[in-house]
Amino acid sequence: MRVLIVGSGGREHALAWALANSPLLDKLYVAPGNPGTATVAENVFLSVLDIAGVVGFAQAQAIDLVVPGPEAPLVAGLADALAQAGIRCCGPTSAAAALEGSKAFAKTLCDEAGIPTARWERFTDPADAREFCARRGAPIVVKADGLASGKGVVVAHSVQEAAEAVDRLAAGGAAIVVEEFLQGEEVSLFALCDGVHAVLLGAAQDHKRAGDGDTGPNTGGMGAVSPPAGFPVAAQEAALDGFVRPVLRAMAGRGTPFTGILFAGLMLTASGPMLIEYNVRLGDPEAQVLLPRLQSDLLPALLAACDGELAQFSLRWLPTACVGVVLAARGYPGDVARGEPVAGLDRAAAVPHVAVFHAGTDLRDGRVVSSGGRVLTVCGTGPDTASARENAYRGVAAIDYPGGYCRTDIGARAPAPAAP
Ligand code: AMP
Ligand code: GLY
Repeated sequence: MRVLIVGSGGREHALAWALANSPLLDKLYVAPGNPGTATVAENVFLSVLDIAGVVGFAQAQAIDLVVPGPEAPLVAGLADALAQAGIRCCGPTSAAAALEGSKAFAKTLCDEAGIPTARWERFTDPADAREFCARRGAPIVVKADGLASGKGVVVAHSVQEAAEAVDRLAAGGAAIVVEEFLQGEEVSLFALCDGVHAVLLGAAQDHKRAGDGDTGPNTGGMGAVSPPAGFPVAAQEAALDGFVRPVLRAMAGRGTPFTGILFAGLMLTASGPMLIEYNVRLGDPEAQVLLPRLQSDLLPALLAACDGELAQFSLRWLPTACVGVVLAARGYPGDVARGEPVAGLDRAAAVPHVAVFHAGTDLRDGRVVSSGGRVLTVCGTGPDTASARENAYRGVAAIDYPGGYCRTDIGARAPAPAAP
Protein backbone atom coordinates (compact mmCIF):
# COMPACT_ATOMS: atom_id res chain seq x y z
CA MET A 1 0.00 0.00 0.00
CA ARG A 2 1.16 3.49 -0.89
CA VAL A 3 -0.18 6.06 1.55
CA LEU A 4 -0.14 9.87 1.62
CA ILE A 5 -0.87 11.76 4.83
CA VAL A 6 -1.83 15.43 4.43
CA GLY A 7 -0.80 17.86 7.17
CA SER A 8 2.18 19.01 9.18
CA GLY A 9 1.31 18.86 12.88
CA GLY A 10 1.78 16.55 15.82
CA ARG A 11 -1.36 14.67 14.78
CA GLU A 12 0.12 13.92 11.37
CA HIS A 13 3.44 12.85 12.90
CA ALA A 14 1.52 10.45 15.18
CA LEU A 15 -0.46 9.14 12.18
CA ALA A 16 2.75 8.62 10.21
CA TRP A 17 4.39 6.91 13.19
CA ALA A 18 1.38 4.54 13.54
CA LEU A 19 1.05 3.77 9.82
CA ALA A 20 4.80 3.28 9.39
CA ASN A 21 4.49 0.10 11.50
CA SER A 22 1.91 -1.50 9.23
CA PRO A 23 3.04 -4.67 7.48
CA LEU A 24 0.75 -3.64 4.60
CA LEU A 25 2.68 -0.42 3.99
CA ASP A 26 5.00 -0.12 1.00
CA LYS A 27 5.57 3.63 0.93
CA LEU A 28 4.51 6.53 3.12
CA TYR A 29 4.49 10.20 2.16
CA VAL A 30 3.47 13.22 4.22
CA ALA A 31 2.56 16.53 2.59
CA PRO A 32 4.05 18.83 3.70
CA GLY A 33 5.06 17.06 6.93
CA ASN A 34 7.69 18.29 9.39
CA PRO A 35 11.14 17.19 10.57
CA GLY A 36 9.47 14.51 12.73
CA THR A 37 7.49 12.93 9.91
CA ALA A 38 10.68 12.93 7.82
CA THR A 39 12.08 10.31 10.20
CA VAL A 40 9.33 7.78 9.37
CA ALA A 41 8.13 8.88 5.91
CA GLU A 42 9.09 10.99 2.92
CA ASN A 43 7.96 14.59 3.09
CA VAL A 44 6.45 16.15 -0.03
CA PHE A 45 6.63 19.90 -0.52
CA LEU A 46 2.92 20.63 -1.03
CA SER A 47 0.57 22.90 0.89
CA VAL A 48 -2.44 21.19 2.52
CA LEU A 49 -4.76 23.51 0.60
CA ASP A 50 -3.17 22.82 -2.78
CA ILE A 51 -5.85 20.33 -3.73
CA ALA A 52 -4.87 20.05 -7.38
CA GLY A 53 -1.26 19.54 -6.30
CA VAL A 54 -2.15 16.81 -3.78
CA VAL A 55 -4.39 14.98 -6.26
CA GLY A 56 -1.76 15.27 -9.00
CA PHE A 57 0.92 13.90 -6.69
CA ALA A 58 -1.35 11.03 -5.57
CA GLN A 59 -2.04 10.12 -9.20
CA ALA A 60 1.59 10.35 -10.24
CA GLN A 61 2.73 8.21 -7.31
CA ALA A 62 -0.12 5.66 -7.58
CA ILE A 63 -1.24 6.39 -4.03
CA ASP A 64 -3.77 3.85 -2.67
CA LEU A 65 -4.96 5.88 0.30
CA VAL A 66 -4.89 9.56 1.30
CA VAL A 67 -5.28 10.36 5.01
CA PRO A 68 -6.01 14.06 5.58
CA GLY A 69 -5.13 15.29 9.06
CA PRO A 70 -6.67 18.77 9.25
CA GLU A 71 -10.18 19.88 8.36
CA ALA A 72 -9.39 22.75 5.99
CA PRO A 73 -8.56 20.63 2.90
CA LEU A 74 -11.65 18.48 3.56
CA VAL A 75 -13.93 21.51 3.76
CA ALA A 76 -12.25 22.75 0.57
CA GLY A 77 -13.08 19.52 -1.28
CA LEU A 78 -9.99 17.30 -1.14
CA ALA A 79 -12.01 14.09 -0.70
CA ASP A 80 -14.31 15.05 -3.60
CA ALA A 81 -11.36 15.70 -5.90
CA LEU A 82 -9.67 12.42 -4.89
CA ALA A 83 -12.93 10.51 -5.46
CA GLN A 84 -13.09 11.93 -8.98
CA ALA A 85 -9.56 10.70 -9.56
CA GLY A 86 -10.52 7.26 -8.20
CA ILE A 87 -8.25 7.51 -5.14
CA ARG A 88 -9.37 6.46 -1.65
CA CYS A 89 -9.53 9.21 0.95
CA CYS A 90 -10.19 8.52 4.63
CA GLY A 91 -12.07 11.75 5.16
CA PRO A 92 -15.44 13.28 4.30
CA THR A 93 -16.54 15.12 1.20
CA SER A 94 -16.87 18.86 1.41
CA ALA A 95 -20.63 18.53 1.94
CA ALA A 96 -20.13 16.11 4.86
CA ALA A 97 -17.28 18.23 6.28
CA ALA A 98 -19.86 20.97 6.90
CA LEU A 99 -20.40 19.19 10.22
CA GLU A 100 -17.24 21.00 11.30
CA GLY A 101 -17.10 23.81 8.75
CA SER A 102 -20.40 25.34 9.83
CA LYS A 103 -21.47 25.36 13.47
CA ALA A 104 -24.98 26.34 12.37
CA PHE A 105 -25.18 23.27 10.09
CA ALA A 106 -24.07 20.98 12.92
CA LYS A 107 -26.50 22.52 15.38
CA THR A 108 -29.41 22.28 12.94
CA LEU A 109 -28.60 18.61 12.35
CA CYS A 110 -28.49 17.99 16.13
CA ASP A 111 -31.88 19.59 16.56
CA GLU A 112 -33.35 17.50 13.72
CA ALA A 113 -31.80 14.24 14.94
CA GLY A 114 -32.58 14.85 18.63
CA ILE A 115 -28.90 14.94 19.65
CA PRO A 116 -28.45 16.67 23.02
CA THR A 117 -26.59 19.95 22.65
CA ALA A 118 -26.57 23.45 24.13
CA ARG A 119 -29.44 25.71 23.05
CA TRP A 120 -28.20 28.17 20.47
CA GLU A 121 -29.05 31.07 18.20
CA ARG A 122 -27.27 32.47 15.11
CA PHE A 123 -26.97 36.18 14.36
CA THR A 124 -25.72 38.18 11.41
CA ASP A 125 -26.31 41.53 13.16
CA PRO A 126 -23.95 42.01 16.14
CA ALA A 127 -26.46 44.31 17.84
CA ASP A 128 -28.99 41.45 17.95
CA ALA A 129 -26.34 39.10 19.33
CA ARG A 130 -25.37 41.59 22.06
CA GLU A 131 -28.99 42.10 23.00
CA PHE A 132 -29.55 38.32 23.17
CA CYS A 133 -26.52 37.91 25.47
CA ALA A 134 -27.77 40.71 27.72
CA ARG A 135 -31.20 39.08 27.91
CA ARG A 136 -29.82 35.60 28.67
CA GLY A 137 -27.08 36.72 31.06
CA ALA A 138 -23.67 35.19 31.77
CA PRO A 139 -22.05 32.73 31.67
CA ILE A 140 -22.73 32.44 27.95
CA VAL A 141 -20.72 31.22 24.98
CA VAL A 142 -20.03 33.33 21.86
CA LYS A 143 -18.66 31.68 18.70
CA ALA A 144 -17.74 32.64 15.16
CA ASP A 145 -19.70 30.51 12.68
CA GLY A 146 -16.86 29.01 10.68
CA LEU A 147 -13.49 27.36 11.01
CA ALA A 148 -11.52 29.02 13.76
CA SER A 149 -9.15 26.32 15.09
CA GLY A 150 -10.79 26.50 18.52
CA LYS A 151 -9.82 30.14 18.80
CA GLY A 152 -13.11 31.69 17.63
CA VAL A 153 -14.88 30.76 20.88
CA VAL A 154 -15.31 32.89 23.97
CA VAL A 155 -16.80 31.53 27.16
CA ALA A 156 -17.98 34.85 28.59
CA HIS A 157 -18.36 35.21 32.34
CA SER A 158 -20.06 38.59 32.16
CA VAL A 159 -22.48 40.25 29.74
CA GLN A 160 -19.84 42.88 28.98
CA GLU A 161 -17.29 40.19 28.07
CA ALA A 162 -19.91 38.60 25.81
CA ALA A 163 -20.62 41.92 24.09
CA GLU A 164 -16.91 42.51 23.50
CA ALA A 165 -16.56 39.01 22.05
CA VAL A 166 -19.50 39.60 19.71
CA ASP A 167 -17.95 42.85 18.46
CA ARG A 168 -14.49 41.32 17.99
CA LEU A 169 -15.74 38.22 16.14
CA ALA A 170 -18.20 40.24 14.05
CA ALA A 171 -15.43 42.68 13.12
CA GLY A 172 -13.64 39.70 11.58
CA GLY A 173 -16.63 39.27 9.30
CA ALA A 174 -18.11 36.22 11.02
CA ALA A 175 -21.73 35.44 11.68
CA ILE A 176 -22.17 34.87 15.41
CA VAL A 177 -23.50 31.81 17.22
CA VAL A 178 -24.49 32.33 20.86
CA GLU A 179 -24.89 29.25 23.04
CA GLU A 180 -26.01 28.22 26.47
CA PHE A 181 -23.02 27.48 28.76
CA LEU A 182 -22.52 23.77 29.52
CA GLN A 183 -20.81 22.71 32.74
CA GLY A 184 -18.85 19.52 33.25
CA GLU A 185 -15.81 17.57 32.11
CA GLU A 186 -15.05 17.84 28.42
CA VAL A 187 -14.04 14.72 26.47
CA SER A 188 -13.24 13.96 22.85
CA LEU A 189 -14.84 10.86 21.33
CA PHE A 190 -13.54 9.44 18.04
CA ALA A 191 -15.34 7.12 15.63
CA LEU A 192 -14.12 5.66 12.38
CA CYS A 193 -17.02 5.80 9.91
CA ASP A 194 -17.69 4.22 6.52
CA GLY A 195 -20.82 6.20 5.65
CA VAL A 196 -23.11 3.72 7.43
CA HIS A 197 -21.21 2.02 10.26
CA ALA A 198 -19.15 3.46 13.09
CA VAL A 199 -16.32 1.82 15.04
CA LEU A 200 -15.00 3.26 18.29
CA LEU A 201 -11.60 4.86 17.81
CA GLY A 202 -11.28 5.72 21.49
CA ALA A 203 -11.59 8.81 23.61
CA ALA A 204 -9.27 11.36 25.13
CA GLN A 205 -9.38 14.50 27.21
CA ASP A 206 -7.81 17.62 25.78
CA HIS A 207 -6.61 20.56 27.89
CA LYS A 208 -7.62 23.62 25.89
CA ARG A 209 -6.59 26.48 28.14
CA ALA A 210 -3.07 27.82 27.93
CA GLY A 211 -2.37 27.81 31.68
CA ASP A 212 -2.27 25.35 34.56
CA GLY A 213 -5.57 24.81 36.31
CA ASP A 214 -7.45 25.57 33.08
CA THR A 215 -6.66 29.27 33.18
CA GLY A 216 -5.76 31.65 30.37
CA PRO A 217 -6.95 31.77 26.78
CA ASN A 218 -8.35 28.87 24.74
CA THR A 219 -5.76 27.22 22.49
CA GLY A 220 -5.73 24.45 19.91
CA GLY A 221 -4.91 22.09 22.82
CA MET A 222 -2.04 22.07 25.35
CA GLY A 223 -2.07 18.38 26.26
CA ALA A 224 -4.23 15.29 26.31
CA VAL A 225 -4.92 12.12 28.24
CA SER A 226 -6.29 8.81 27.03
CA PRO A 227 -8.34 7.11 28.26
CA PRO A 228 -10.13 10.03 29.90
CA ALA A 229 -11.11 9.57 33.54
CA GLY A 230 -14.82 9.26 34.14
CA PHE A 231 -15.66 8.14 30.60
CA PRO A 232 -15.26 4.35 30.50
CA VAL A 233 -15.46 2.29 27.32
CA ALA A 234 -19.11 1.39 27.99
CA ALA A 235 -19.97 5.10 28.09
CA GLN A 236 -17.94 5.67 24.93
CA GLU A 237 -19.87 2.91 23.15
CA ALA A 238 -23.15 4.41 24.38
CA ALA A 239 -22.02 7.79 23.06
CA LEU A 240 -21.54 6.25 19.61
CA ASP A 241 -25.26 5.46 19.68
CA GLY A 242 -26.14 8.90 21.00
CA PHE A 243 -23.83 11.18 19.04
CA VAL A 244 -22.35 9.37 16.03
CA ARG A 245 -24.79 6.85 14.56
CA PRO A 246 -27.68 9.37 14.37
CA VAL A 247 -25.36 11.70 12.44
CA LEU A 248 -24.43 8.95 10.00
CA ARG A 249 -28.13 8.25 9.42
CA ALA A 250 -28.93 11.93 8.97
CA MET A 251 -26.02 12.55 6.62
CA ALA A 252 -26.79 9.47 4.53
CA GLY A 253 -30.43 10.58 4.41
CA ARG A 254 -29.33 13.92 2.98
CA GLY A 255 -27.34 12.16 0.27
CA THR A 256 -24.04 13.27 1.84
CA PRO A 257 -22.81 10.21 3.75
CA PHE A 258 -19.94 10.70 6.19
CA THR A 259 -16.74 8.71 5.64
CA GLY A 260 -13.68 9.24 7.78
CA ILE A 261 -13.13 10.08 11.43
CA LEU A 262 -15.93 11.79 13.29
CA PHE A 263 -14.81 13.58 16.45
CA ALA A 264 -17.58 14.44 18.89
CA GLY A 265 -16.56 17.01 21.50
CA LEU A 266 -18.77 16.17 24.48
CA MET A 267 -19.46 17.84 27.80
CA LEU A 268 -20.22 15.29 30.51
CA THR A 269 -22.89 17.30 32.32
CA ALA A 270 -24.89 16.35 35.40
CA SER A 271 -27.74 15.38 33.07
CA GLY A 272 -25.57 13.27 30.77
CA PRO A 273 -23.26 13.90 27.82
CA MET A 274 -24.06 16.86 25.56
CA LEU A 275 -22.49 17.75 22.25
CA ILE A 276 -20.21 20.79 22.11
CA GLU A 277 -19.13 20.38 18.51
CA TYR A 278 -18.33 17.93 15.74
CA ASN A 279 -15.00 17.79 13.98
CA VAL A 280 -14.40 15.73 10.88
CA ARG A 281 -10.90 14.48 11.69
CA LEU A 282 -8.67 13.29 14.49
CA GLY A 283 -7.93 15.79 17.25
CA ASP A 284 -4.58 17.39 17.88
CA PRO A 285 -3.20 16.59 20.52
CA GLU A 286 -5.72 13.76 20.99
CA ALA A 287 -4.28 11.68 18.12
CA GLN A 288 -0.88 11.73 19.81
CA VAL A 289 -2.32 10.00 22.92
CA LEU A 290 -4.78 7.69 21.13
CA LEU A 291 -2.51 6.15 18.53
CA PRO A 292 0.20 4.92 20.95
CA ARG A 293 -2.56 2.92 22.68
CA LEU A 294 -3.79 1.26 19.49
CA GLN A 295 -2.78 -2.40 19.26
CA SER A 296 -4.47 -3.15 15.94
CA ASP A 297 -2.94 -2.16 12.64
CA LEU A 298 -4.42 1.23 11.73
CA LEU A 299 -4.01 0.86 7.96
CA PRO A 300 -6.59 -1.91 7.31
CA ALA A 301 -9.05 -0.01 9.51
CA LEU A 302 -8.71 3.17 7.43
CA LEU A 303 -9.03 1.15 4.22
CA ALA A 304 -12.17 -0.58 5.54
CA ALA A 305 -13.70 2.82 6.30
CA CYS A 306 -13.07 3.95 2.72
CA ASP A 307 -14.44 0.71 1.28
CA GLY A 308 -17.65 0.61 3.35
CA GLU A 309 -16.50 -2.50 5.23
CA LEU A 310 -16.60 -1.49 8.87
CA ALA A 311 -19.66 -3.57 9.80
CA GLN A 312 -17.55 -6.48 11.05
CA PHE A 313 -14.58 -4.45 12.18
CA SER A 314 -13.30 -3.76 15.68
CA LEU A 315 -10.04 -2.41 17.03
CA ARG A 316 -7.90 -3.70 19.88
CA TRP A 317 -6.28 -1.41 22.40
CA LEU A 318 -3.31 -1.83 24.71
CA PRO A 319 -4.18 -1.79 28.43
CA THR A 320 -2.17 1.40 28.86
CA ALA A 321 -2.76 5.07 29.48
CA CYS A 322 -1.08 7.82 27.50
CA VAL A 323 -0.43 11.42 28.51
CA GLY A 324 0.73 13.99 25.95
CA VAL A 325 2.22 17.35 26.93
CA VAL A 326 2.38 20.09 24.31
CA LEU A 327 5.50 22.25 24.29
CA ALA A 328 4.42 25.57 22.82
CA ALA A 329 6.30 28.73 21.93
CA ARG A 330 6.07 31.34 24.68
CA GLY A 331 3.20 33.67 23.86
CA TYR A 332 1.04 30.99 22.20
CA PRO A 333 -1.88 31.28 21.39
CA GLY A 334 -0.83 34.86 20.64
CA ASP A 335 2.12 35.97 18.53
CA VAL A 336 5.24 33.85 18.96
CA ALA A 337 8.90 33.96 18.02
CA ARG A 338 10.09 31.42 15.45
CA GLY A 339 13.51 29.99 14.73
CA GLU A 340 14.39 29.33 18.38
CA PRO A 341 16.59 26.30 19.10
CA VAL A 342 14.95 23.08 20.33
CA ALA A 343 17.53 20.59 21.65
CA GLY A 344 17.52 17.29 23.51
CA LEU A 345 15.03 15.55 21.24
CA ASP A 346 17.09 12.36 20.95
CA ARG A 347 17.62 12.36 24.71
CA ALA A 348 13.84 12.69 25.24
CA ALA A 349 12.99 9.96 22.73
CA ALA A 350 15.43 7.64 24.53
CA VAL A 351 13.50 7.94 27.81
CA PRO A 352 11.61 4.63 28.23
CA HIS A 353 7.93 4.78 27.24
CA VAL A 354 8.27 8.24 25.68
CA ALA A 355 7.51 9.32 22.12
CA VAL A 356 8.09 12.85 20.84
CA PHE A 357 5.88 14.13 18.04
CA HIS A 358 6.86 17.22 16.09
CA ALA A 359 4.46 20.01 15.08
CA GLY A 360 5.83 23.53 14.60
CA THR A 361 9.45 22.59 13.99
CA ASP A 362 11.88 23.24 11.18
CA LEU A 363 15.45 22.30 10.38
CA ARG A 364 18.05 25.05 10.17
CA ASP A 365 21.61 23.98 9.38
CA GLY A 366 20.66 20.47 10.46
CA ARG A 367 19.31 21.60 13.83
CA VAL A 368 15.72 21.66 14.99
CA VAL A 369 14.22 25.10 15.57
CA SER A 370 10.69 26.22 16.40
CA SER A 371 8.46 27.32 13.53
CA GLY A 372 5.00 27.72 15.03
CA GLY A 373 2.83 27.99 18.13
CA ARG A 374 2.59 24.36 19.16
CA VAL A 375 6.08 22.95 18.67
CA LEU A 376 6.12 19.39 20.08
CA THR A 377 3.88 16.89 21.85
CA VAL A 378 5.81 14.75 24.31
CA CYS A 379 3.89 11.56 25.09
CA GLY A 380 4.39 9.06 27.89
CA THR A 381 2.68 5.71 28.23
CA GLY A 382 2.26 3.55 31.31
CA PRO A 383 -0.06 1.10 33.00
CA ASP A 384 -2.08 3.99 34.49
CA THR A 385 -2.43 7.74 34.02
CA ALA A 386 -0.09 8.58 36.89
CA SER A 387 2.81 6.57 35.48
CA ALA A 388 2.08 7.76 31.93
CA ARG A 389 2.20 11.31 33.22
CA GLU A 390 5.52 10.72 35.00
CA ASN A 391 7.01 9.35 31.81
CA ALA A 392 5.69 12.25 29.72
CA TYR A 393 7.21 14.85 32.04
CA ARG A 394 10.51 12.89 32.13
CA GLY A 395 10.53 13.33 28.37
CA VAL A 396 9.73 17.04 28.71
CA ALA A 397 12.59 17.48 31.20
CA ALA A 398 15.05 16.05 28.67
CA ILE A 399 14.18 18.75 26.13
CA ASP A 400 15.98 22.07 26.06
CA TYR A 401 13.71 24.69 24.52
CA PRO A 402 14.21 27.95 26.42
CA GLY A 403 11.73 29.78 24.17
CA GLY A 404 8.91 27.41 25.04
CA TYR A 405 6.47 26.60 27.80
CA CYS A 406 4.14 23.79 28.73
CA ARG A 407 1.43 23.11 31.23
CA THR A 408 2.64 21.22 34.28
CA ASP A 409 -0.70 19.65 35.15
CA ILE A 410 -1.61 17.49 32.14
CA GLY A 411 -3.14 14.29 33.47
CA ALA A 412 -2.86 15.46 37.07
CA ARG A 413 -6.40 16.54 37.74
CA ALA A 414 -8.77 14.06 39.24
CA PRO A 415 -12.05 14.33 37.37
CA ALA A 416 -14.50 16.60 39.09
CA PRO A 417 -17.48 14.64 40.37
CA ALA A 418 -20.58 15.34 38.31
CA ALA A 419 -22.73 17.88 40.12
CA PRO A 420 -25.68 16.27 41.91
P1 AMP B 1 -15.43 24.72 20.01
O1 AMP B 1 -14.48 25.34 19.03
O2 AMP B 1 -16.84 24.83 19.68
O3 AMP B 1 -14.96 23.34 20.41
O4 AMP B 1 -15.19 25.49 21.39
C1 AMP B 1 -13.91 25.58 21.99
C2 AMP B 1 -14.03 25.32 23.46
O5 AMP B 1 -14.90 26.25 24.09
C3 AMP B 1 -14.63 23.97 23.78
O6 AMP B 1 -13.68 22.98 23.70
C4 AMP B 1 -15.14 24.20 25.18
O7 AMP B 1 -14.11 24.13 26.12
C5 AMP B 1 -15.64 25.61 25.12
N1 AMP B 1 -17.07 25.62 24.82
C6 AMP B 1 -17.62 25.66 23.59
N2 AMP B 1 -18.98 25.64 23.66
C7 AMP B 1 -19.29 25.60 24.97
C8 AMP B 1 -20.51 25.57 25.71
N3 AMP B 1 -21.70 25.62 25.10
N4 AMP B 1 -20.43 25.53 27.05
C9 AMP B 1 -19.24 25.51 27.68
N5 AMP B 1 -18.06 25.54 27.04
C10 AMP B 1 -18.06 25.58 25.71
N1 GLY C 1 -7.82 19.21 20.23
C1 GLY C 1 -8.96 19.75 19.65
C2 GLY C 1 -9.00 19.70 18.20
O1 GLY C 1 -8.21 19.04 17.56
O2 GLY C 1 -9.89 20.33 17.64
